[in-house]
Amino acid sequence: MKTVIYPGSFDPLTNGHLDVIQRAARLFDKVVVAVARNGGKQPLFSPVERKTLIEHSTTELTNVSSDIFEGLLVEYVEQQSGHAVIRGLRALSDFEYEFQMALMNRKLNEKVETLFMMPRASYSFLSSQLVKEIATLGGDVSAFVTPEVREALAGKLGQAGAN
Ligand code: PNS
Repeated sequence: MKTVIYPGSFDPLTNGHLDVIQRAARLFDKVVVAVARNGGKQPLFSPVERKTLIEHSTTELTNVSSDIFEGLLVEYVEQQSGHAVIRGLRALSDFEYEFQMALMNRKLNEKVETLFMMPRASYSFLSSQLVKEIATLGGDVSAFVTPEVREALAGKLGQAGAN
């Protein structure tokens, strides 16, 4: 039974994240999408809201669950008996930060392996930050997020994102 942890801020979940989740769900027995409570600086969505959006957007993936963690990722991975950490790599620009984080996590706990997965190329420009900016400015985000996330953005920002 191989369990992998996919950690992140997910503020909010994008179709790029979802693409990585779908790929991981095909390869592993169990995928835990772990929302970092203290990840982003000033998140738009609370950890519970982010977790709920992930759950509502992955209902068809029966081996995927979502959770909230705080503290060190390596400790959470051990608690969950995780076999590896999954991270998405969109472009070379992601690499340096991801490389640093993966090797630091390995230094903290030699047993925690990090695996990188590439989302579909058409999502390589996509980020939660840009989605929030577009939604805040009244742009249409329906190509970038699930209907659940689009509605939550519209509810939070009180404007046209749900068109
Ligand atoms: O989606 P993000 O913001 O790129 O995710 C970053 C995240 C949450 C995976 C990272 O900040 C993290 O693992 N935070 C938990 C605290 C921790 O273990 N820090 C040391 C990382 S080397």
